[in-house]
Amino acid sequence: MRVVRARGEGAFAGAALASLAGALAARPDLALTLPTGGTPQGLYRELAAAQRRGAVSLERATVFMLDEYLDLAAYPEGSFLAYLREHLGEVVFNDATRFIPLEPSDDPARLAAYDRALDEAGGLDLAVVGVGRNGHVGFNEPHSPLAARTRVVELSEDTLEANFPGVDRARRPRRAVTVGLADLVGARAVLMLIAGEGKAGVARRLLLEGGPDPSVPATHLLGHRSLTVVVEASLLD
Ligand code: GLP
Repeated sequence: MRVVRARGEGAFAGAALASLAGALAARPDLALTLPTGGTPQGLYRELAAAQRRGAVSLERATVFMLDEYLDLAAYPEGSFLAYLREHLGEVVFNDATRFIPLEPSDDPARLAAYDRALDEAGGLDLAVVGVGRNGHVGFNEPHSPLAARTRVVELSEDTLEANFPGVDRARRPRRAVTVGLADLVGARAVLMLIAGEGKAGVARRLLLEGGPDPSVPATHLLGHRSLTVVVEASLLD
């Protein structure tokens, strides 16, 4: 495991970009996941700037969505698809990059089709993941099975509080679809990004204690043979 302790948003985004750019330079036709949330926003700004100056390109890559809410009344409003369009724009949504959407559907045939697309790509070359306060990756909540693939999950109260602060319970989605731990653990490389409010506990659990623990799903990635963790250094102070 390679751990990069980056202090401050600029350093964090720069370290994450350096790792992603290195992977793309080694293999421009990567199949990868890109996460949502607050954590990668700086990375995506840097990535857009780097792509504009020709330093990096996702044009030969295949981007898989990591997760998506179900039951959003005004889909795509508030969805992860909308997030990715907003934060990645031309970097991914252009004529060249292959983008594989994870549709907000609980139809088993559609979920199986997503797994088939992952298999046809030869699995993930790079799983870029954020980490939830409770240690979830994608929407693999605590006690998700290691063998799980793309499926519907019930969101935990912790996650709903973190992602929908101040939003009426009735207006929060209760379910999501997510790529499973099997695909993330099975990726050829993993880039884990840890930053943000309320993450000190999970950062310390992952980086100072280690060891797999089903109640903290991100710990399943700790033994990965090619894991890079970029962590906001102040979380470990
Ligand atoms: C969400 C997403 C994850 C993301 C995590 C962390 O619930 N399902 O893919 O990594 O939360 O979000 P943030 O970066 O906003 O803390």
